[in-house]
Amino acid sequence: MDKISIKGGARLYGQIPISGAKNAALPLMVASLLTDEPLILTNVPKLADVVFMAELLKSFGVSVEWTPGETLGEGGTYRLQANRVRGSTAEYDIVRKMRASFFVLGPLVARVGLAKVSLPGGCAIGARPVDLHLTGLQALGAAIDVAQGYVIADAPAGLAGGEVVFPIVSVGATENVLMAACLAQGRSVLVNAAREPEIVDLGNCLIAMGAKISGLGTSRIVVDGVPKLHGASHSVLPDRIETGTYAMAVAIAGGEVELTGTTPDLVSSLLDLLVLVGAEVSSTGTGIKVVRNGSRPKSVSVDTAPFPGFPTDLQAQFMALMATAEGTSRIRETIFENRFMHVPELVRLGADIKVEGDTAIVTGVPHLTGAPVMATDLRASSSLVLAGLAAEGETIVNRVYHLDRGFERLEEKLRAVGANIERQSE
Ligand code: UD1
Repeated sequence: MDKISIKGGARLYGQIPISGAKNAALPLMVASLLTDEPLILTNVPKLADVVFMAELLKSFGVSVEWTPGETLGEGGTYRLQANRVRGSTAEYDIVRKMRASFFVLGPLVARVGLAKVSLPGGCAIGARPVDLHLTGLQALGAAIDVAQGYVIADAPAGLAGGEVVFPIVSVGATENVLMAACLAQGRSVLVNAAREPEIVDLGNCLIAMGAKISGLGTSRIVVDGVPKLHGASHSVLPDRIETGTYAMAVAIAGGEVELTGTTPDLVSSLLDLLVLVGAEVSSTGTGIKVVRNGSRPKSVSVDTAPFPGFPTDLQAQFMALMATAEGTSRIRETIFENRFMHVPELVRLGADIKVEGDTAIVTGVPHLTGAPVMATDLRASSSLVLAGLAAEGETIVNRVYHLDRGFERLEEKLRAVGANIERQSE
């Protein structure tokens, strides 16, 4: 299994190109199931999860052509065509490896009237149920049955528009129901819908495919169903989690870096905090410049929240930054239970962190010290890389496959701005 070795202490200077967003690319790829014409997606990051989604789509008879990008950060292109959908079952072995596989439920039932998808099962960052996906599809007329670990959604005569009221904000459930509603007969209204930029991106692609959608980016999305969608070409939006992670890499290591191919509005909740932490942040027109020279970062407290609040997917990285800051910060996780698994690993690097319920109390220390560490999920792994950039000596991050699920060529991007980081293959 590959490891990443980081020798801390180097400041970062230069440019980091930001890739297309994993969390947009995955549902966009699934949208190919909604039409028999080709869907061309550009700026697609080459990530393990994306390759995995392509394999899942192939199992439904989707033809998949991939053209890689040429330079660091330049995404690849997928041509996906679901001329005929073959089968309607997503097996446990596939779904348990990647929760986003569950996105096929809505599009499949909308297109072919039947879908059988394994329940995702437990997950390292909490129970993560799928009840909202199911009640949402029920509101569109699907009969839902759960048996032997599978969800069976049945709508032989097609889906019908309806009102879906989400009791809590769910990104995945909003996406699943949004895709299904495009082919339902009549009007669907999604109330308390998620407002994440990835949903807007998916909605814009669906509109390019002929869907009738209004209210994207608000908590009330209205969809007027159409009998058929057609092919389209769409560029995946920049990855705001990658953007935020590298912005914090500069804040923790010091230096001056332009993050190119991204925009401040995707991460404004973080950039506002970074200014309080003591970094300078500016828009360059082609990206975002982050500068931190001189004094230690300052502690700032934060609660995670649905967009436009502070993203849960940046919580672990922010905690690494706060571990080296002057003062004490309180970091409250409101989206997922059990998303503090990075805490014991950061403590191994010398951080002073105590967890009380949903809140981590981080008292910054002047120096972290390198050590071997291990993480159990994607965002947690990236927090350990950030901590390693600031730590004295060598940090070895094990289980790099977590990082490969969500960060395209992470060590190359960081090395290009001066970090002492390398992958050790075994
Ligand atoms: C997506 C992102 C993930 C991010 C998360 C929150 C993708 C592929 N993944 O995950 O990186 O961390 O949004 O921003 O886009 N919930 C229910 N019932 C449901 C669905 C969700 O109770 O049916 C709960 C979850 O357990 C969680 C909360 O709702 O507590 C939000 O989860 P959700 O927004 O659905 O996350 P995902 O779509 O799985």
